[in-house]
Amino acid sequence: MHTRFTLAFCLAATTLAFPSPPEEPCDYGLPSIWKPGVKWQIVIHAPVDITQSVIPLDARVWDIDYFHALDHPDIIPALKSPADGIDNVVLCYVNVGAIESYEDDYPEFPQDALGKSYEDYPEYWVDIRRPDVVQFMKERIIKAAEIGCDGVDADNIDGYDQDEEGVDKTGWNLTRSDVIGYVKSLATLAHNTPTHRGVPLMFGQKNAPHIASDLVSIVDFAVLEDCQGLNGRLPGVHEAYCPEFQAFVTGENRTDGKKLPVFEIEYPGSLEGGSTELTINDWEYYCNRNKTEVGNEGFSLVLKHESGQLDGWGQYCQSEVEMGQVRTATLPI
Ligand SMILES: *[C@@H]1O[C@H](CO)[C@@H](O)[C@H](O)[C@H]1NC(C)=O
Ligand SMILES: *[C@@H]1O[C@H](CO)[C@@H](O)[C@H](O)[C@H]1NC(C)=O
Ligand SMILES: *[C@@H]1O[C@H](CO)[C@@H](O)[C@H](O)[C@H]1NC(C)=O
Repeated sequence: MHTRFTLAFCLAATTLAFPSPPEEPCDYGLPSIWKPGVKWQIVIHAPVDITQSVIPLDARVWDIDYFHALDHPDIIPALKSPADGIDNVVLCYVNVGAIESYEDDYPEFPQDALGKSYEDYPEYWVDIRRPDVVQFMKERIIKAAEIGCDGVDADNIDGYDQDEEGVDKTGWNLTRSDVIGYVKSLATLAHNTPTHRGVPLMFGQKNAPHIASDLVSIVDFAVLEDCQGLNGRLPGVHEAYCPEFQAFVTGENRTDGKKLPVFEIEYPGSLEGGSTELTINDWEYYCNRNKTEVGNEGFSLVLKHESGQLDGWGQYCQSEVEMGQVRTATLPI
């Protein structure tokens, strides 16, 4: 409602040439940088410290934690416009398939919908088939639009994968169709929820390659972890899967032909334990292979610390192994 009012006010102000400009910027649509290959940064381990300069300044899409954005309302505006004339897209990481016990809204979550814990963290897979769980997560999504997120990076929608290994890791025996139905329901809600720009909130697919072809016409982007595989680590445990998302950036499998950005995170083994020394072997593997063969042509790639912490450090592939490192300033956690 608030957004519609703003939109109407902007239009009126433009048409009638009001003497004073409206208080809210009249940015109706997504900026033109929103397309496959756009440079991005993801920082979800700690809130971005916006009292420092925003680095890298040429990252035009930012993916930050929803709770950090909620607790620090100044972060999203600063990331959207870190300098004059820059209009960035901000995605908010929302855990929709699991819940962590320290999250602010955890006390309101139905406790009997908590499943098994995720790799022994205090993070529990939830029963995504329950209407009250769907409603709980819908409230997170609506709130994300209210605080200025342009899209939702919806994590942990691959519970089916855990369960299809023959072991019920989530505690809910989730199937692919459970997840597809859940994502459809949340994405539909997002698309009916206007953002500050007056356009629908976007909904992203996180990993879950087996259902990529089911979701390509439903979601607005994808965020992938380790789609290139692990360069020889853990053989047989994790397969490469970038090609499953190649159709996202070409638009060929979408009913409307729209080309969707795919944001790729790789965690090279040489960046283990907070190391910033990417080895030449990892550089060759993650940065210098033939993208047509890897299946990640047109993806937006950033290398992050192997711990999967997604802190402020990152590296973008360039022509030399030591080039492209950045550190976004973060607040202490
Ligand atoms: C999951 O499946 C297993 C094996 O079929 C069954 O024993 C268990 O009760 C199921 N769990 C749920 C929550 O349905
Ligand atoms: C597009 O969809 C078709 C039919 O499902 C599938 O065979 C093809 O591999 C898809 N293309 C890509 C690039 O994923
Ligand atoms: C990359 O691989 C494709 C498909 O195998 C091939 O057609 C192309 O020539 C290769 N590009 C380079 C630069 O080697």
